[in-house]
Amino acid sequence: MRMRSVHRPLKTALLLAPLTLGVAGAGGGTTPPAAPAPPVRPASAVQPGRPAGSAVSLRALADARGLLFGAAVNHTLFDPNEPDYARTLNRHFNAVVAENAMKWAGLHNNREAFAFGFADAIVDTAVKNGQTVRGHTLVWHDSLPPWVYTIQTREELLRAMQDHVTGVVTHFRGRVRMWDVVNEAVSDAPGHPLRSSPFLNLIGPDFIDEAFRAAHAADPDAKLYYNDYNTDGLNGKSDAVYELVRGMLVRGVPIHGVGFQAHLNTDFDVRGAQVQANLQRFRDLGLDVQMTEVDVQLRPGRPEAGELARQAAVYRDLLRTCLSVKCAGFVTWGVTDFNSWRAGGRPLIFDDVYDPKPAFAALAQELAPPGR
Ligand code: GLA
Repeated sequence: MRMRSVHRPLKTALLLAPLTLGVAGAGGGTTPPAAPAPPVRPASAVQPGRPAGSAVSLRALADARGLLFGAAVNHTLFDPNEPDYARTLNRHFNAVVAENAMKWAGLHNNREAFAFGFADAIVDTAVKNGQTVRGHTLVWHDSLPPWVYTIQTREELLRAMQDHVTGVVTHFRGRVRMWDVVNEAVSDAPGHPLRSSPFLNLIGPDFIDEAFRAAHAADPDAKLYYNDYNTDGLNGKSDAVYELVRGMLVRGVPIHGVGFQAHLNTDFDVRGAQVQANLQRFRDLGLDVQMTEVDVQLRPGRPEAGELARQAAVYRDLLRTCLSVKCAGFVTWGVTDFNSWRAGGRPLIFDDVYDPKPAFAALAQELAPPGR
């Protein structure tokens, strides 16, 4: 394996400097309010002209199956010193998600005006490259600009939320085909009630229905998702999400799918956690399901080869399970280990120098046409 000439501590510090890191473990992350400055790397780290990853194109294999196979992208997409990022993205992924650029604080930090520039650049690039765009995310307790917290009445916050959703979805209508409308509304507390947030606390539980209604009115063709973490297997939290979306369907709320983030580590047991039974019960409600933020951290202090093999097995089992329930998409939360939000855990399918890892081969094998 080629070695990158940049020392990780420096690199990681540079990368994370503009960010505030969120909840450890699973999901619940945070965002910079706007596009952070790109990490600075010495020119010696760049090896132009190398093939993007592998002779196999995951994108071609996913296309042949009609599967959305995506990656979350950040500012590195536009870094002229990092051409392998776009090359890898375009060769291996048919779908793109903005890692941070479409969050509330990224698009609407100033109450009076949206700032669509960075997100537009991501969307336009994806559309030009024939990639589908997943919108992430319209209403979330995290990454909110300070002005949202100054609102004091239900009416004003409801109107502000509806205006935000309407403004964003209308702007991207026709270019963003699906949205995570509400992210992480269910808490991790015993019994998994809805999570405390300005929206729950001021508007009440119906903020969820209202957000979906506003999104649907702004783009009736967009597929609308509820998205959450630690809900991949059968457990109390996925039960709570199940009840939430079932209730929405009963009330006639326009919801079309559920996203399962799948921020995992190498100890995760896809079969033991009963991911298949969990996804299937949402499919049985008539909803689409997607794995939306997949990454699988290596556990520290263990021999590398074994960890990489375990990581590959988790990716394989997860994709196999996803395909078995005819999932609509499988999205990795980043392109390469180098600039993952959990870079220390090397959780993605391409390593620091864009070489495919064993997890890449495992996904390629799962995506290959039957009989090969
Ligand atoms: C959650 C969010 C993502 C991201 C991650 C951490 O999973 O849904 O947008 O912030 O946390 O990067």
